[in-house]
Amino acid sequence: MKSHFSYIRLLSLVFFMFSAHLTKALTWDEMKQFFNEFRKNPATVGAIAPSSSLVGTEITKYFVNAIKQETATKTIHVLEVGAGTGCLTKVIEAIVDKNHDIDIKVDVVEISPEFCTILRQKFENNQRITIHCKSIINWNPDYRYDFIICTLPFNSFESTLMKSIIEHLQTLIYPGGVLSYVAYAGIADIKKHFLWGNAKKQHLEKINTLKSLRKKYQIDARTVIVNCPPIRIYHLEII
Ligand SMILES: C[S@@+](CC[C@H](N)C(=O)[O-])C[C@H]1O[C@@H](n2cnc3c(N)ncnc32)[C@H](O)[C@@H]1O
Repeated sequence: MKSHFSYIRLLSLVFFMFSAHLTKALTWDEMKQFFNEFRKNPATVGAIAPSSSLVGTEITKYFVNAIKQETATKTIHVLEVGAGTGCLTKVIEAIVDKNHDIDIKVDVVEISPEFCTILRQKFENNQRITIHCKSIINWNPDYRYDFIICTLPFNSFESTLMKSIIEHLQTLIYPGGVLSYVAYAGIADIKKHFLWGNAKKQHLEKINTLKSLRKKYQIDARTVIVNCPPIRIYHLEII
């Protein structure tokens, strides 16, 4: 039994070192904080390690393309939902900083006060990025977004919460705006074979809600293998 535990510990350590390597923007301390927050609130955090930088490149690609084509003087509004310790916010910040001549405003909405403290420390000097420490359900600005980058763990949410969040996100985006969200590759399909009764019913409801959303709006989807675990990124044009 004891050797079993050592084996698990060793595997966890290797896994963390690998994740730290993939998530270049994060320090070892932040990796630990992320994992500790996951231990406290597994359903809300929904992942044991932050996303890799390749996820950052893929999930921001429509925003980057829009900047390349941007000729108008209109402000580009970007919303990041569920920033954690800010690995994807770093990617967004790099894009924003590279484009001084374009008016870009980024709102970051994160529910965990612990993560918000880290996010504020990291991004308080950037005038174009604002951290809002609250649930996305309670975020109601008087403008809409061109791009929403969402890494909420829909799979670990209750079905009703997930549906309300998805409906809410659709009210926050401009017609024609792009909502990019993630799901661990294949996990939802595997999970359904290990659930029974009401839990299975709820899980299938969630799968179907996301499927019909994608059927209506999906313009692109990619799997990023270089992430722990591999992740699927969906891009939806909400019209
Ligand atoms: C899977 S983690 C993603 C963290 C980071 N963006 C990444 O890609 O590694 C999900 C994040 O969503 C946050 N979250 C969960 N429910 C939320 C809600 N209702 N509103 C805002 N943030 C939420 C969690 O606290 C957590 O930081």
